[in-house]
Amino acid sequence: MEALHSDVKEVLLSEEDIHQIVSRMGEQITRDYAGKNPLVVAVLRGAVVFTADLMRAIDCPMSVDFMAVSSYGEAAKSSGVVRIVKDLDTKIEGRDVLIVEDILDSGLTLSYLIDLLKGRGPASVEVAAFLVKDVTGKTPAIEPRYVGTHVPDEFIVGYGLDFAERYRNLPYIGILKPEVYQK
Ligand code: PRP
Ligand code: MN
Ligand code: MG
Repeated sequence: MEALHSDVKEVLLSEEDIHQIVSRMGEQITRDYAGKNPLVVAVLRGAVVFTADLMRAIDCPMSVDFMAVSSYGEAAKSSGVVRIVKDLDTKIEGRDVLIVEDILDSGLTLSYLIDLLKGRGPASVEVAAFLVKDVTGKTPAIEPRYVGTHVPDEFIVGYGLDFAERYRNLPYIGILKPEVYQK
């Protein structure tokens, strides 16, 4: 087995599972945004793989732009501060904005982004999150309009999600072995 795959304890969502979830989300978004020409905002870097798939499951005119923010950096835990690394190139005043994220964990990144983008006078701001992490005893700060699925409170990697910038290229969603991030 290859080194990358052997660091994964368990596959949570196979490529086939992912495909089904993304198709369903694309259909919902297509229905809701017909005639609206939404601006899809992909949050670099984690959301890049999901966005590439989701866009192709959306069957109405739309455009895409990218924002780079980071709260985790190379650490396993969030620093608590969101940093803008790259802003949008598109003016969003009057636009229907759909923020696309790979995972909603503490909600820090999305709360920050929603507030920031709402301040620019868009027609609407909604969120499509592929994963929502279920943390016991914690109510999520955000309720995304579109949710792929819920995942347990473990270290999730693959399909865009990294640990220390690795594992983003895994084609499935897996749980990282604790010994990998406890090193
Ligand atoms: C990860 C993930 C989400 C965010 C979720 O991004 O891609 O954007 O954390 O966590 P939160 O809900 O607690 O804010 P990260 O900051 O690691 O940057 P990356 O996308 O470049 O990996
Ligand atoms: Mn991210
Ligand atoms: Mg990350």
